[in-house]
Amino acid sequence: MKNPGTGLEGPARGMWSSRFMFILAAAGSAIGLGNIWKFPYMAGKYGGGAFVLMYLACIGVIGIPILVAEILIGRHTRKNPVGAFSVLSRKNRFWTAVGFLGVASGFVILSYYSVVGGWTVDYFTKSAAGSYLEADPGRINEIFSRMLANPWEQAVWHTVFMAATMGIVVFGVKEGLERWIEVLMPLLLVLLGILVVYGLVAGDAAGGLGYLFLPDWGKFVTNAAGEYTPRPMLEAMGQAFFTLSLGMGAMITYGSYLGDQENIPGSALMVAILDTAIALLASIAIFTIVFQYDLDPKAAGPGLVFQVLPLAFSQMPGGRFIGTAFFLLLSFAALTSAISLLEVVVAHFIDDRKWARRTATVIMGTVVWVLGLFSAFSYNLLENVTLLEDKEGQGMPILDSVDLIATNYMLPIGGLFIALFAGWFIKQQVRDRQLLEHSNSRTFYRVWLFVTRYFTPVAVAILILFMIDKHLGIAEWIVGGK
Ligand code: TRP
Repeated sequence: MKNPGTGLEGPARGMWSSRFMFILAAAGSAIGLGNIWKFPYMAGKYGGGAFVLMYLACIGVIGIPILVAEILIGRHTRKNPVGAFSVLSRKNRFWTAVGFLGVASGFVILSYYSVVGGWTVDYFTKSAAGSYLEADPGRINEIFSRMLANPWEQAVWHTVFMAATMGIVVFGVKEGLERWIEVLMPLLLVLLGILVVYGLVAGDAAGGLGYLFLPDWGKFVTNAAGEYTPRPMLEAMGQAFFTLSLGMGAMITYGSYLGDQENIPGSALMVAILDTAIALLASIAIFTIVFQYDLDPKAAGPGLVFQVLPLAFSQMPGGRFIGTAFFLLLSFAALTSAISLLEVVVAHFIDDRKWARRTATVIMGTVVWVLGLFSAFSYNLLENVTLLEDKEGQGMPILDSVDLIATNYMLPIGGLFIALFAGWFIKQQVRDRQLLEHSNSRTFYRVWLFVTRYFTPVAVAILILFMIDKHLGIAEWIVGGK
């Protein structure tokens, strides 16, 4: 078969039709609920500016190096993470297990991602119906809480979202993904632009921007009781992994469909910049409104976008239309991310176990769907089940706990090994060929190699140790807390 990515004879595997499509698809995976739903509420919860700065630092020294590493591994092996690690390490058990950890993370993340994706579809219908248009802040909160409290509503929209994800993955990379992303991603950017302008003009620009960009370090490292806590720093790192779709091989899988002559560092930078821009724009749109209405940025949690933006939509001219368009585009952004999560799992069963794409998609999608029902019921039927505790020692619902386990444990551990592998274990010629041949920047390559070898793994390892230590309490003991 002619390989559409390179025009050469190649394996019978789907390929992106151009570098531009790869960037769009990778950005489509990266940009999603992580940017617009999760980043703003985390920035709110952890005190604004300090969190934003730490997050940006993590994107630079952890995110971008690992993003390059993943694409490089994917394009070289042309495989999913399990296949890639097993081939590169000559079937070494340990490294193959790292690949499996990635596939497992895909299952776990998609299960609750689909539930929140369901909320956005639900809000699309609520916006179109004008449900929150005449409402005050109290009533808008109530609409959100009612949605969470209704197990059927949760289950139905989770099912719709998961079915759509499976529907697209069945068709494979090119037909399935490219067509959607091309149109919808740019539209989302335009709409966010409109919301930012609205927020700056009609909202409290000084309050919102000040909260987001002026750091208050004291509040960042302590909890409500004034005790030291590493949690916010860990969350900033976890968010960097989550938002760039790193640590589980999604970008290995997408890189495996990238043509040989394309420039990896350039593409990676582009994706990281787009992704970060969207997260910051969404936060500006949200926090200018938060301060306009004197809401508490810390308190909102996962409901933030669903409670704050409807306030803006109910005030602005054409709000019903803009609100409807916004939740529709957000649903699509979530969908293009969900696709990449399912694609990792499916690619593993196709490449390594020779399943048909359709079989792999239907069976694995169904397993994820069942798993997701636990998250869908975590604010209603199972509301008394808590798995972990939050920064203040409160029990966290299932969805929040599963998110924390996946984002702050599974992804960083996967990412640590991906960085070590790309920095130390891969053959020098492979690195050179993948990163130098079609790129004109030797400097970027040198910096990348240095950071990926010495800096990224150390930083991630230290943070993982802190995370484990949170349960042991050594750091608190050193700092003099307990
Ligand atoms: N990055 C996506 C977002 O921000 C979510 C996502 C898609 C993801 N694929 C991933 C997260 C792989 C971690 C790993 O919404």
